[in-house]
Amino acid sequence: MLSVLTTIFMLIFGGYFLWFVTKRRNKSSEPPIVPYWIPWLGQGLNYQKNPFTFVQACAKKYGPIFSVFMGGRYFTFVTDPFTHPTIAKESRKLNFRLQTMSLTKNVFGYKRGSVDAPTAGGHFPKYMQGENLEDLMKIMMRNLHSIRKQDRLNCADWTEIDLLRLSYDIMFTAGYKSIFGSYSKASGKQENFQDIIDDFILFDDAFPKLVQGYPASSLKGVESARGSFWKMLDSGELDERTDVYAFIDAIRRSYEDRPKDIPKMLFSILWAAESNTVLAAYWALYYVLKHPEAIVAARKEIDHMIDATSQQGNEEIHFTRADFEKMTVLESIVNESLRLGDSPSMLRLATEDYDLHVKCLDKTFRIREGDSVMVMFQLTHMDPEIYSNPEEFKYDRFLTKDSQMKTDFYKDGKPVKFHLQPFGSGLSKCPGRYFAIGELKQFLVLMLRYYDIELKDPQQATGANYNRVAFGTLPPTNECPIRFKRRVT
Ligand code: HEM
Repeated sequence: MLSVLTTIFMLIFGGYFLWFVTKRRNKSSEPPIVPYWIPWLGQGLNYQKNPFTFVQACAKKYGPIFSVFMGGRYFTFVTDPFTHPTIAKESRKLNFRLQTMSLTKNVFGYKRGSVDAPTAGGHFPKYMQGENLEDLMKIMMRNLHSIRKQDRLNCADWTEIDLLRLSYDIMFTAGYKSIFGSYSKASGKQENFQDIIDDFILFDDAFPKLVQGYPASSLKGVESARGSFWKMLDSGELDERTDVYAFIDAIRRSYEDRPKDIPKMLFSILWAAESNTVLAAYWALYYVLKHPEAIVAARKEIDHMIDATSQQGNEEIHFTRADFEKMTVLESIVNESLRLGDSPSMLRLATEDYDLHVKCLDKTFRIREGDSVMVMFQLTHMDPEIYSNPEEFKYDRFLTKDSQMKTDFYKDGKPVKFHLQPFGSGLSKCPGRYFAIGELKQFLVLMLRYYDIELKDPQQATGANYNRVAFGTLPPTNECPIRFKRRVT
């Protein structure tokens, strides 16, 4: 018995020793590797505990470029903001799509046609920019107004609700209706948004695990929640709806040869459109409510624009994109809340050995073929050299003294081009960003113009949940009860 145990021990120890002596050593031309002792997992557990603080601590110790082994692969983190534009520009040798192709299958249940296949059939630029976007925003504002007028939200007396739920009730519902329309009268159907939102939150919470490769069936309720969206977005169901945005019809036509994938693909668009936006709306309102001076400044700007556009304050206000461009206080609030609540990244796969010049060191490092390159923009957003007291919300941080947009931010006395990247960068940059910014401003106009609204406990702090670092907007860690009642009837 003893000899069996000794043999097993020797085998394990021998195997570990062999792994340890043969594991990759970095060459002088390569970024330093953060030491690790566990095969395959590497630093994975430490990273997962809190990716932001882990990467921040490594940057302090190893400098602005270093490699981390986790999950059997090497990830090179680049924290120098001056080098980020170089990575964003290099789309061939540092590929985005190869990095994420396999994720799409596990998370959304369909495979992209090819590495070069454009997202959503390539229809984003046409439908999420320019005149079409102006029309979409009109529809969005109309939907926001109709939701505001529902009995539940049109209360004359103070009513309590959790801020995140309110953000979902308003933004998810309006966003969904603006893109996917509503059931026609003839269909005799009507959706229950409370159930849809519950399903969405269930799926959204599971998102990081699905990205890590957990099968949907292993996560309670996720397969069924995802399945209900596939059913809702099935072509038969969509045909029973009216006011479906032309964008969706264009996508359906592009995927005619893969009918089974259409609802899955549409669900991925729905998820991308709603998940980050609802959470970003939450943070924008949360920070404004925490800072009464922001409410005063935003309301002043909204009132001014109502007068300037000759609208009556008690009717359904609508601002065009050109109006919003002049509303710099709103823009600064949106930028500042995205800076604090968002955790965007840029993840690329080196398709061949690639020499990256790290500008702040004036030194070139070789990235090996097959390694990943990772930029966490949150490190820039929280850099005290670029943003003084970065933990603090300053509603006017992005304003100049004469209330224009401030765009120059410095580090080491040099301007940082990529100082604010809430939508990522390069080829993978969010194609829905113009709509997203518009929606957030519309949400703030709706909430501040039409509601008296306050935090139930202004002293209560809400933190960001770091399980979503690098995936987009961070969810809050705890409930945040608020009170609201209608302000303009
Ligand atoms: C505040 C709201 C939003 C934020 C913070 C946000 C953020 C992001 C980020 C950071 C990425 C890049 C991910 C990466 O590089 O890996 C991304 C991708 C994407 N976003 Fe957004 N987004 C928002 C709203 C929207 C909206 C409203 C839509 C659709 C109408 C949308 C559609 C997409 C799509 C389809 C992608 C994937 C692009 C691709 O893989 O080619 N997003 N978003």
